[in-house]
Amino acid sequence: MRSLFLTIATCVLLASRGAAVPSLDVEKRQTTSKYCSPDSNICYLEIATRGTNPVYRIAIPDGSAAPFDTLLQIISPVSLGWAGFAWGGGMTLNPLTVAWPNGNKAVVSSRWASGHTAPTTYSQATYKTLSSSKNATHWTIEVVCSGCSKWSGGQLSTSGLNTFAFAVSKTPVSQPASSSSAINYHSNFGMLPATDLSAAKVPLSVFQQYVKSAGSA
Ligand code: HEM
Ligand SMILES: *[C@@H]1O[C@H](CO)[C@@H](O)[C@H](O)[C@H]1NC(C)=O
Repeated sequence: MRSLFLTIATCVLLASRGAAVPSLDVEKRQTTSKYCSPDSNICYLEIATRGTNPVYRIAIPDGSAAPFDTLLQIISPVSLGWAGFAWGGGMTLNPLTVAWPNGNKAVVSSRWASGHTAPTTYSQATYKTLSSSKNATHWTIEVVCSGCSKWSGGQLSTSGLNTFAFAVSKTPVSQPASSSSAINYHSNFGMLPATDLSAAKVPLSVFQQYVKSAGSA
């Protein structure tokens, strides 16, 4: 099953901020599909953005009520200095997973924004990095998040539709080794509306075994 979603990619006139208008190069279409890893027994819901934006993959334990842990993979072009994923579909008032390359690995950072200003560290979501890498074309990271499925004011729906969002910046972060590094304003963002998590569901025992073994590798 493959669905097409329209991206809300609006060129916002930033008159009130007096700043330059960012050029938003997100494409109009984003697709979701089921991606089964050739290296493990995990299948993910894959959200493929187009152009120079990342691919995001999510897996959740089947049959669990929120809060449950969530798996997130980000596969980003090397041109991006950071890539973020918003679990509640907008910048504000939901857990933000932000990641960036650091040497030949990548770093994850837990953030939260109360308004449209630089997000701060969010301690109610914690992460374990299962793997990360960087080569000539891409950097990648896979994390398990405790605290991304439920938050003050919202939670994921395992039976209905979810809205996710993403944001990216072409500018490298200032202190890549530190998960609390300052990050630059995004050069692009996109909304990912109406996402059904059924393709993200992994049997609980398989999910737990994977998190355990990948984490100790
Ligand atoms: C220094 C850091 C950041 C600043 C200053 C910032 C600022 C803003 C501003 C002013 C907007 C309004 C639209 C625009 O003017 O472009 C916006 C929208 C947005 N931002 Fe950020 N942002 C930052 C980081 C992030 C991060 C880390 C994420 C996600 C992980 C994110 C996700 C979004 C999304 C999805 C939108 C569009 C939807 C919405 O308005 O909620 N932002 N941001
Ligand atoms: C670089 O990493 C990406 C993402 O993991 C992968 O798809 C690609 O095959 C890798 N390229 C090389 C040359 O190994």
